[in-house]
Amino acid sequence: MFQRRSFLLSSAAAAAAGLTAFKANAKGLPLDIEPRGTNGILERLPRVDLESAQDFMTGYRVFINQELNRAAMTRCNEILKANGIPLDAPLSMEDTVKLMAPDPTMGLYIHNWENTQRAMWATVQVEAHKNADAYMDEMDGAMKAGPGSLELDSKLVLPPYVKHEIHIQPGGYVGDPFAGYIYLHGQNVVFSGGNFQDNAQINFANAVPTPADGKVGRVLEQGCSIGQLTMALKLRFPKAEVWGDDVAAPMLRYAKVLAVDRGIDVNFMQQLSEQSKFPTNHFDVVMNNLLFHEVTTEGARGIIAEAYRTLRPGGVFYPIDLFTGSAKPSSAYSQFRAWQDYRWNSEVWRMEYTALDLEGEMRKAGFIVNEKGPTARRGTDRNVMGTKPA
Ligand SMILES: C[S@@+](CC[C@H](N)C(=O)[O-])C[C@H]1O[C@@H](n2cnc3c(N)ncnc32)[C@H](O)[C@@H]1O
Repeated sequence: MFQRRSFLLSSAAAAAAGLTAFKANAKGLPLDIEPRGTNGILERLPRVDLESAQDFMTGYRVFINQELNRAAMTRCNEILKANGIPLDAPLSMEDTVKLMAPDPTMGLYIHNWENTQRAMWATVQVEAHKNADAYMDEMDGAMKAGPGSLELDSKLVLPPYVKHEIHIQPGGYVGDPFAGYIYLHGQNVVFSGGNFQDNAQINFANAVPTPADGKVGRVLEQGCSIGQLTMALKLRFPKAEVWGDDVAAPMLRYAKVLAVDRGIDVNFMQQLSEQSKFPTNHFDVVMNNLLFHEVTTEGARGIIAEAYRTLRPGGVFYPIDLFTGSAKPSSAYSQFRAWQDYRWNSEVWRMEYTALDLEGEMRKAGFIVNEKGPTARRGTDRNVMGTKPA
């Protein structure tokens, strides 16, 4: 199996940045469309100008997240004071929009943020479509290679709720064949350039609690996207059979590229996490990350029920998201940020997630709930976890 990193190390031609891969490809050498090696374990973009564009976006995003964010927070407090509203008062969506949306400082924050978000996706999307055949070939090639597996379901009927352009990613997860590539490189901008090693996913995998009897033979990540966390779970539990499922074929096809490239033995399945093909009482650990705030309440209930069904007695369910548990962000500024995410980042289901009683739903499904499980996300409270009664 061709490994792009060893190719890079052994080939002077590949070390020269630029269109080397396409030339190499034309000569009939093994396909590698992103031949510039890796930054950490993040594949570098195929050309310097693309990487520079993403670097600029990353730097600008840091400015937005720090300076502009502070300015917006200060302005938010001024608006509240001017309207006689206590700073920590929970605001309704309607009041948030009425007070914040017309203000120029808040608008500056929102639209600078929105525009970098659009630009960071577009950089990779445009490039991938210009070289569509090569990107397709890479994914097709990975389908036939090991380690691990990918089962796609061409007959899967996609419910309308999964078709939104969540976080204004063009085409969303299911509508652009290169969604996986777009997601990976955009995500690194979102993390302010701090996810070169899949750092976030590795931290989450390390936080996952294990069943009381210590047995971890099979692990599932629901809504696994491009498999970064699935692969991190395999590193955490090297002897376990590790699975990731996701509704979106484009994300899974790129997950397979990454897993083959990194030589990590994980398995991917295209399906709705709420209607899985996995057997009952099968997994020791089921977890997910950033899935619930991107699905409907009905979807979330189904996903919890399916986690319960597929876990074996004593198995552990560990959902991670922007927040879990009852301590939901409620200050006016966090309400403003939630609204901004909903309205300007096409996070269509975010408000439904905020209203969801996650622990209550987990209890209804049959889980014994511990509201103070291991903390997953830095800066948030303890994470909720559930155990299927033995
Ligand atoms: C934010 S991403 C998940 C990120 C990933 N868990 C990680 O930690 O790197 C959300 C993923 O959920 C998938 N998804 C949304 N609804 C789904 C459903 N009902 N069943 C399975 N996957 C779903 C999307 O296709 C997308 O890839």
